Amino acid sequence: MKVGFLQTFPRFGKKSENIGRAISSISGLNADLIVLPELFNTGYQFVSREEALALSERIPDGQTTQALIKLAKEKNLYIVTGLAERENERCYNSAVLVGPDGFIDCYRKLHLFYHEKLWFDPGNAEPEVYDIGHAKVGIMICFDWFFPEVARCLALKGADIICHPANLVLPYCPQAMITRCIENRVYAITANRVGTEKRSEESLTFIGTSQVLGTKGEILYRATSDREESIVVEIDPGNARDKQVTAVNHIFEDRRIKFIV
Ligand code: ACM
Repeated sequence: MKVGFLQTFPRFGKKSENIGRAISSISGLNADLIVLPELFNTGYQFVSREEALALSERIPDGQTTQALIKLAKEKNLYIVTGLAERENERCYNSAVLVGPDGFIDCYRKLHLFYHEKLWFDPGNAEPEVYDIGHAKVGIMICFDWFFPEVARCLALKGADIICHPANLVLPYCPQAMITRCIENRVYAITANRVGTEKRSEESLTFIGTSQVLGTKGEILYRATSDREESIVVEIDPGNARDKQVTAVNHIFEDRRIKFIV
């Protein structure tokens, strides 16, 4: 299976431009599954909830999801991407999964980071796992990585690959995700952005270093910290189905959940 990511530098608020650039990058790839960053179409640093609402879209009928559905059909591939979702007066930091047959589902970020708590409503549903034929995939968004129960929940539900749109500013995630993969025997694709945004007193610099990790924590590809990139690597999702660490140690069956939840 061919999987990869785009590492992008979105221009804040320039949705059509950001979507167009992502589409032309994906058009040049030969892949089954591509992951894009969190909020790839809008940029990250909103100055108010009103601004986030104004740039958000209904899912699946908004501009961004519709453009990606068209591309997924033309290219016969699956795409996971982050975007701001509007549902009535609610605004979520969401991600969609689309494929050759159209819209599949939306995940709403459960763990909001820092000022996101001012802009977004927290997610209100369990993360789910989707069978896309080549593999079973689950979605989590950026800071969700800090809460190991999200990756564990996805792995327990059968995910082979964790698709992880991100806008990372803290340095820890690329290394920490290695542990998430080892302890759950899953692949992970973290698609981060690069560049700096300064739309208030505080400037935010995004760390890039998007990556595809193997089920034993191998770094199959790690991107630069400061450049746009698009890459595809070959993986065997079957490796994620073997949860045996030794002949007698199984990562799920050996849990002592009677004592530790
Ligand atoms: C983050 O959750 N965007 C750090």
